[in-house]
Amino acid sequence: MSNVSSFIPRFIGSNLIRHLLGPAGFQGKVVNLDSLTYAGNLESLADIAGSAGAHRYCFERIDIRDAAALGAVFERHAPDAVVHLAAESHVDRSILAPRDFLDTNVLGTFNLLECARVAWKDRSDVLFHHVSTDEVYGSLGETGKFTETSPYDPRSPYSASKAASDHLVLAYSHTYGLPVTLSNCSNNYGPRQFPEKLIPLMIMNMLEGKSLPVYGDGRNVRDWLYVEDHASALWLIMRAGALGEKYNVGGESEWENIRLLRELMAAVARRTGRDARDFERLITYVKDRPGHDRRYAIDCSKIKRELGWSQALSFEEGLRRTVDWYIDNPGWIERVRSGAYRQWIEANYGSRG
Ligand code: DAU
Repeated sequence: MSNVSSFIPRFIGSNLIRHLLGPAGFQGKVVNLDSLTYAGNLESLADIAGSAGAHRYCFERIDIRDAAALGAVFERHAPDAVVHLAAESHVDRSILAPRDFLDTNVLGTFNLLECARVAWKDRSDVLFHHVSTDEVYGSLGETGKFTETSPYDPRSPYSASKAASDHLVLAYSHTYGLPVTLSNCSNNYGPRQFPEKLIPLMIMNMLEGKSLPVYGDGRNVRDWLYVEDHASALWLIMRAGALGEKYNVGGESEWENIRLLRELMAAVARRTGRDARDFERLITYVKDRPGHDRRYAIDCSKIKRELGWSQALSFEEGLRRTVDWYIDNPGWIERVRSGAYRQWIEANYGSRG
């Protein structure tokens, strides 16, 4: 595998790219494609410029909804592996504006698959790895976990669009023999995550004394996966995963939202020298998310057993590193909030877009 196209320098993608250019042992070229919508932040990869892997990295501003532009990129770089992380990912946004999710997650995936099918005709030494979510499996009751054979039961426009994309990827494998692997992960967290997601949103609101909006009764359960552990799992699947197979990737760290919030309050209090009770008064129960899935829990024994993967970090350590990063990087937060990084993107990439 000499060339990898990795899609989107957002949260998970930027961690995978850093992994591939760093300790992973991968020596090929990494082509990073992103349309740089609201959550795409090249500042998340700024440290690559001065790193040893910098000469193996390049960025292309491409929207996967644009089939022609995508085809040109395939011709320019002739990738022999694609890691497909490009997606609209935020459930709340999918409830407000579902069309964006269908366009990018379904039709964008279709464009990508078509490019790979055409470019890789009769090649078997290539790989299309599709990154998906545990939300395709629906919602669990008090017990049980999602396995790779759990039936699909997506319940939000976001998860329905991801489920459709999973099916398309498998269809291309069955119909055209495209060499594919898939992974379905739980909730990622860690440094540089866009602050619409629960953990960074709550940390930032605590630091600014703003209310902490808890949906419904706060007792929905999510499994939390440290983003660097996810990156190591993706690289392992790319190297050793069986073609046509899917792998669940999870943190084995289930938390009710309200309990997670209290852990986070304690971590922020420890780091800032504040009293966690100062944050307690900020908790505000708000109207529930429509169709809010109650519980996700992921059985990731397959990737552990078959590929020897395991999480490197405990949840406590992951949370500590995350809190530290947000406290140590007020400039990043400020620029994301103010839109300064978007102005920079338009100035530097606008004409190429
Ligand atoms: O399970 C994997 C999925 O995790 C990914 O596929 C999605 O792309 C990712 O966005 C995430 O989905 P969630 O909806 O679980 O993540 P979110 O951070 O939006 O919410 C986590 C939980 O916290 C969920 O039960 C809703 C709740 N929540 C969220 C926000 C933003 C609140 O109570 N208050 C909030 O303000």
